[in-house]
Amino acid sequence: MTRKRVAILISGGGSNMAALIRDMAIDHPGEPCLVLSNSPKAEGLKRAADMGIPTAVVDHRTFGKDRQAFDTAMQKVLENARPDLICLAGFMRILTDPFVTFWQGRMINIHPSILPLFPGLETHRRCLEAGMSVHGCTVHHVTPTLDSGPILGQAVVPVAPDDSPETLAARVLNVEHRLYPAVLRRVLNGDSRPVAILDQDQPTSSRPEKK
Ligand code: GRF
Repeated sequence: MTRKRVAILISGGGSNMAALIRDMAIDHPGEPCLVLSNSPKAEGLKRAADMGIPTAVVDHRTFGKDRQAFDTAMQKVLENARPDLICLAGFMRILTDPFVTFWQGRMINIHPSILPLFPGLETHRRCLEAGMSVHGCTVHHVTPTLDSGPILGQAVVPVAPDDSPETLAARVLNVEHRLYPAVLRRVLNGDSRPVAILDQDQPTSSRPEKK
């Protein structure tokens, strides 16, 4: 069977990207065809190159406020790479409606919250401020409304009493690295069942319980 071509869009460290690429190395319906970043400084670019994956940069800063021109430039690079599916993995730019509509059904994203709770930024701080006892992440189809497309999988982790946004983010990121590859496999296999991970095993606190 021909493997499906997967492009991964990043802006930063690329740990989710690396988790996807690692998983695609073993008996997988997909293969990475491109890692594309909107920033030449994204650490994930070197990581991808070290893993033998072609990389490209479309620097959003050269387009000023013109989101359309940026998306058109990305579209050109993507059309050369001919992906069957695009994975947004820590990609921090808002995409224009025509770009999203063109790829709709073929573009997925990971978001660090249990959507529809906490769309947008600073999800870990907002989760703590809301007094939640669980948090997590969601992989969903990308649609023109931010962080709102059909859900393909979710993972849930506990919130610890002494969590900071940073400790909580680290716990969520850990489970992102399990969720995203699991969803990608299912999507490329044409399996429409959502993935659900309930991760109760991760350590939540070093403090002894108060009696
Ligand atoms: C992840 O938490 C992702 O969900 C969010 O940004 C972070 C990116 O991490 N959108 P990485 O670049 O995959 O390491």
